[in-house]
Amino acid sequence: MKDVTPKFIVMEGLDGSGKTTQLARLEAYLGSRGRRVFVTREPTSSVTGGLLRDALSGESRRSDCEMAALFVLDRIYHNQNPICGINKMLADGYDVICDRYYYSSMAYQGSMTDFEWVRRMNIDCPEIRRPDLCIFLDLDPRVCLERISANRTTTEIYETEDTLTAVRQNYYRVFDAVEDRIAVIDTTADIDSVADAVRSAVNSIFGF
Ligand code: TMP
Repeated sequence: MKDVTPKFIVMEGLDGSGKTTQLARLEAYLGSRGRRVFVTREPTSSVTGGLLRDALSGESRRSDCEMAALFVLDRIYHNQNPICGINKMLADGYDVICDRYYYSSMAYQGSMTDFEWVRRMNIDCPEIRRPDLCIFLDLDPRVCLERISANRTTTEIYETEDTLTAVRQNYYRVFDAVEDRIAVIDTTADIDSVADAVRSAVNSIFGF
């Protein structure tokens, strides 16, 4: 049976895994099914998001715990922002697609500092909503890094083979540690096949 209630969908993956492309394809697909879609991302454009971007670019230095705490603060704001926060947009009838969410905190900061602390801070926070579906685009870190260097002149602090390898392993730990609905999609195939796999994962929550 069709479920027309607005849905909160998260797109996750290593840097360079093709999230941006697949997110745009998913947005277009949901639009073609008559859905109203709001696309958002983390870190957000809030003041806290700015602090995070400065740290990710290497412009300022933050400890792993500071990063984990800042991401939680940014995420609470992202949920609660009365103008275009996740809760507000869902209440207004939009499906929300979010580029990264607490899975990234657990996979990235959770591999650098205490995993359980990061997990609890996110999962136990009453002001952080649980998604209806998380789509994880899986790809070998070496391929991710090749794509990053082909497409950009600057890199961020986590974009090294060692870090991305540890983060990828940790994503699987995250998916065991949370009870959310997760679709793991291998993205070594061509863009259209990956988009098809994303669509079938999403169809399953709408009953299309
Ligand atoms: P992106 O803009 O390419 O998605 O990059 C954002 C970076 O921030 C990426 O390296 C992953 C990192 N990140 C975390 O480490 N923890 C988080 O909670 C989030 C949302 C992102």
